[in-house]
Amino acid sequence: VVWQTLSRPKNQVNPGIKKNEEKVVNSVDIEDLGDGAAFCRCWRSKKFPYCDGSHNAYNKETGDNVGPLCLKKKCK
Ligand code: FES
Repeated sequence: VVWQTLSRPKNQVNPGIKKNEEKVVNSVDIEDLGDGAAFCRCWRSKKFPYCDGSHNAYNKETGDNVGPLCLKKKCK
């Protein structure tokens, strides 16, 4: 996988998610999270805004260290 294409300026973090939109905004209702969820911060997930593990390949290829934001309910 080539993360940086020739057509994309190097200073853009988003390589291809909703590029036809001025701004990518996602909303998730807390009630729909269940016990928790992992949200993508590498912008490579095929399930964006959720993490699908694509950050592992991205980190391996680039030497970066990005990972998801994990939300979970506190234990009661
Ligand atoms: Fe992007 Fe996991 S796939 S943080």
